[in-house]
Amino acid sequence: LGNGLASTPPMGWNSWNHFNCKIDENIIKQTADSLVSTGLSKLGYKYVNIDDCWAEISRNDKGELVPKKSTFPSGMKALADYVHSKGLKLGIYSDAGYYTCSKKMPGSLGHEEQDAKTFASWGIDYLKYDNCNNDESRPTLRYPVMTRALMKAGRPIFFSLCEWGDMHPALWGYTVGNSWRTTNDISDTWESMVSRADQNEVYADFARPGGWNDPDMLEVGNGGMTKDEYIIHFSIWAISKAPLLIGCDTRNITKDTMEIIANKEVIAVNQDKLGVQAKKVRMEGDWEVWAGPLSNYRVAVLIMNRGSWRTAITAHWDDIGIPPNTSVVARDLWEHKTLKTRFVGNLTATVDSHACKMYILKPVY
Ligand code: DGJ
Repeated sequence: LGNGLASTPPMGWNSWNHFNCKIDENIIKQTADSLVSTGLSKLGYKYVNIDDCWAEISRNDKGELVPKKSTFPSGMKALADYVHSKGLKLGIYSDAGYYTCSKKMPGSLGHEEQDAKTFASWGIDYLKYDNCNNDESRPTLRYPVMTRALMKAGRPIFFSLCEWGDMHPALWGYTVGNSWRTTNDISDTWESMVSRADQNEVYADFARPGGWNDPDMLEVGNGGMTKDEYIIHFSIWAISKAPLLIGCDTRNITKDTMEIIANKEVIAVNQDKLGVQAKKVRMEGDWEVWAGPLSNYRVAVLIMNRGSWRTAITAHWDDIGIPPNTSVVARDLWEHKTLKTRFVGNLTATVDSHACKMYILKPVY
């Protein structure tokens, strides 16, 4: 969307994966504090996004959305001021239907202009727009109404289309929003995570600066996968130029979780200015090689083992877009080491079950 935002994928946090409907302004404020105190905000995690369940069931007598008195008593303007004072941005959630998915708050269908103005007046920086309880008209009719409303609201607001991928939003999302979901909801399991990665990969050609494929938010840190599986999760999201929206409780974050989501080198792949989403370039049985170009003639490569046994996996230059005789320096982004070997033609790594290796390859001449 031509609103000047999202030249690289958005980074931040969202309340849904960990808290569901159990949110309040203290959680949001403490999360903002924790993004600063952990150093995550410095690494780029700027958006603090409130998901479903923040509003009263009824609009006020002017027809405006009202934050729930019991959980957001200070109101959204005050919360936005607080979040902005920490150098962060505040995101909010609504729905292109009559009610949101939780049915606990009103949607914005038919109220697009008014709600966009309300969000802008509060100082909102990001809107996630869900697709529940709508009038069954096509999303290509409902979503652009909010796009226009946001463009007129007088504040740049990142627009996240949450249509779940049913009507292939990758095919039309670029002029409507800054990101679009390609899948239905992720859950905190290996199967859920890899299937979302696979579904999202199909649309790689549609991602570019200004608009990104969204395979849903991160589950890293929520406890349902092993550390190696979470490393795969984060690596695929990064190389796929997916939004990096943390979905765990950052107020109580473990060292293992920090090692993953605070990996600067992997984040740099996600935020690379070229903005090209990686693709699966080779699959053999349980192993896969994903690759995509980066700025300065570099290539990001992810080698992953989906099977149950440790195995040797080879990335071939032919598959990843490097001429076969080219000599390459490899940086291992999880070991934080530049490998001593100069690789020519291919690179082979031994990879544990449900584990991966991620490299940046740089041709040398
Ligand atoms: C469905 C979305 O896909 C989720 O990410 C979340 O926003 C829920 N709705 C909230 O009800």
